[in-house]
Amino acid sequence: MTAQPDPRGDVAVLVPAAGIGARLGAGGPKALRELAGVPLLVHAVRRVLAAPSVATVVVAAPVSSVDDVRAMLPPGVTVVPGGAVRQESVALALAAVPDGYDIVLVHDAARALAPPELCEQVAAAVRGGHPAVVPVLPVVDTIKEVGASGTVVGTVDRSVLRTVQTPQGFRRSVLVAAHAARTSDPMTDDAALVEKLGVPVHTVPGDPLALKITTPLDLEIAALMLRGRWGGGR
Ligand code: CTP
Ligand code: MG
Repeated sequence: MTAQPDPRGDVAVLVPAAGIGARLGAGGPKALRELAGVPLLVHAVRRVLAAPSVATVVVAAPVSSVDDVRAMLPPGVTVVPGGAVRQESVALALAAVPDGYDIVLVHDAARALAPPELCEQVAAAVRGGHPAVVPVLPVVDTIKEVGASGTVVGTVDRSVLRTVQTPQGFRRSVLVAAHAARTSDPMTDDAALVEKLGVPVHTVPGDPLALKITTPLDLEIAALMLRGRWGGGR
């Protein structure tokens, strides 16, 4: 039997963390806000580094906090100043990925509790041949389209809808091409840029732990999850 190359350690992860966290309210950049005494970004990076496939991590930090962010992360993590919008932060982090990594995951510092297993599952799907992979969850609420006057226009078939999480995984060449083709159109995830290129985006099951901490309520929910059996001991 021929030895297979060990797939572990072939993945680079980008962690955009340069947002201001307007919806979380006053208290500094969201990625540096604390959950159980630890900055959200540190929670996120710890979990990413616990994934055996992950060999390198690049963080896009708030411009005014680059040195603080470097000091709070392990020395092997690369920290670059972020941009004015998320896509710019991702592009700046992507430009700092060393040669030799063909699989790149893009994560959000705001998804602080996303477990290492989710990185592994997304990376495995890219390794298995999918050029772009997103973790998704079914939509649990009924979704309605509402007109400008506040009146319901119609009810959307939720069976075909999914909410999308990070980490999202890409062949590096696909992510580079997607960002090169980026316009000023607002895009809330990297997969949307890839879709515009006509590249198929594969889905894998997401994880409730990968919730995006957006509002003060989300921060409280994450604190409860961390204290309970959802915390995973990290
Ligand atoms: N992000 C970034 N650079 C930006 C904006 C956002 O790196 N210019 C990052 C955030 O730090 C976060 C992730 O992208 O980890 C997802 O963005 P979001 O949850 O919207 O965070 P914020 O933009 O910080 O929050 P808000 O939109 O409420 O201001
Ligand atoms: Mg934002």
